[in-house]
Amino acid sequence: MKTVLSGIRPTGRLHLGNYLGALRNFVKMQHEARCFFFIADYHSLTTHPDPASLHENIRNVLAEYLAAGLDPEVATIYVQSDLPQTAELSLLLSMHAYVGELERTASFKEKIRAQPENINIGLLSYPVLMAADILIHRADYVPVGKDQEQHLEMTRKYARRFNTLYGEEFFPEPQPYNFGEQLVKIPGLDGSGKMGKSEGNGIYLSDTDEAIRKKVMRAVTDSGPTKPDQPMAEPIANIFAIMKAVSPASTYDFFLSAYNRCEIRYGDMKKQLAEDMIALVAPIRARIEEIKADGAYLHRVAAEGAARAAASADVTMRRVREIMGIKPL
Ligand code: TYM
Repeated sequence: MKTVLSGIRPTGRLHLGNYLGALRNFVKMQHEARCFFFIADYHSLTTHPDPASLHENIRNVLAEYLAAGLDPEVATIYVQSDLPQTAELSLLLSMHAYVGELERTASFKEKIRAQPENINIGLLSYPVLMAADILIHRADYVPVGKDQEQHLEMTRKYARRFNTLYGEEFFPEPQPYNFGEQLVKIPGLDGSGKMGKSEGNGIYLSDTDEAIRKKVMRAVTDSGPTKPDQPMAEPIANIFAIMKAVSPASTYDFFLSAYNRCEIRYGDMKKQLAEDMIALVAPIRARIEEIKADGAYLHRVAAEGAARAAASADVTMRRVREIMGIKPL
C-alpha cells in the first residue's frame, strides 16, 4: 500500500489555497492509502510567532482539518512537534545537505527579502526539515500546491543522496500529487501573486458568507476586453483560475466564452464566484465551530495521531541509525 503525507503550517486560519492545493486532494485519498496529515508547527517557528498565538493556531488548524473532512479513524493526524523523531532525522539529513544548494532555494531567497532582520538557520534548513517530515514515514506521494514543488524536488535529492551514499534503496523518492493533474497555484484576490496567509488576500474556511461576498466583489478587474480572444491581464486571469478550481466546469466555460466574445460582465462573474465559494466553504465553517468547541475530542485526536505517527517513525529511525553506523556498543 502506498503512503501519502502532507502538512500545513499553523500561521493563521486555513484559506482556499491550502484547501484546494493540498487538503481537498488529501481528503479524497485518505481511504485508499496509508495516510499522514500533520500540522507543521516547527516550520512556523522560523518567523517567531508569539507562543500563545501559535498554540491557538494549532488548535484552529486541527479543527479545520477535521471540518474539511479528514477522518482520524483512517488518516493519522498529528502535530509535528509531537514527533521529535522528525527533528532527529532532520539533523542526520542535514549532514548531507549543502549550504550552497539551500541558499539557492526560491523560498529562502524570498524570506531573506521579506525578513532581512531575521535570517535564521531554521529558514536555511527549512527544506531539510520538510524532507525529514516526508521521509520519516517513507511517503510515496505528497499532495501539495505548486509552490511546494521545489521543496519536493529537494526531498527527492536528499533521499537519492542517502540511498547512494549508504548503498541501500531505503527511502522512496516522493512525488508531488494532484490526481494526475498539474499542481495548482491559487492566486490571491488582489491582482497578483498567490493566495497566502501573510498576504491578506485570501478567502478563509472560517469566513462568513458576507465576508466572502465582500472580498470577491472587491477583487481587482479591468475595463474588459476590446477585441475577441484578447489575452487576459493578470488580475483577470487570476479570477478565472480561482473560478476553475471552485466552480463547476460549465460555469467556467460560460464566463470564458463571454470573455472571448467581449461580452463579459465582471460583476456577474464575481457574484457567481462568490456564491460557488460560499457553497464550498459554508458547510466546512459550520463544522469548524462545532469541532472547536469539543476540546476533549481535539485532545484525543492529537494524542492518538501522535502515538500512531511515532510507531511509524520509530521503524524508520531504527533503520536509519543502523545504516549510518549509530548502534548500541
Ligand atoms: P503552507 O503552510 O504554506 O501551505 C500548506 C499547503 O497549502 C498549499 N498552498 C497552496 N496551494 C495552491 N495555491 C495557493 N495559493 C496555496 N497556498 C498554500 C501548499 O502548497 C501546501 O501544500 N512547507 C509547507 C508545509 C510543510 C509540508 C511538509 C508540506 C512542511 N512539511 C511536508 C508537505 C509535506 C508549507 O509551508 O505549506
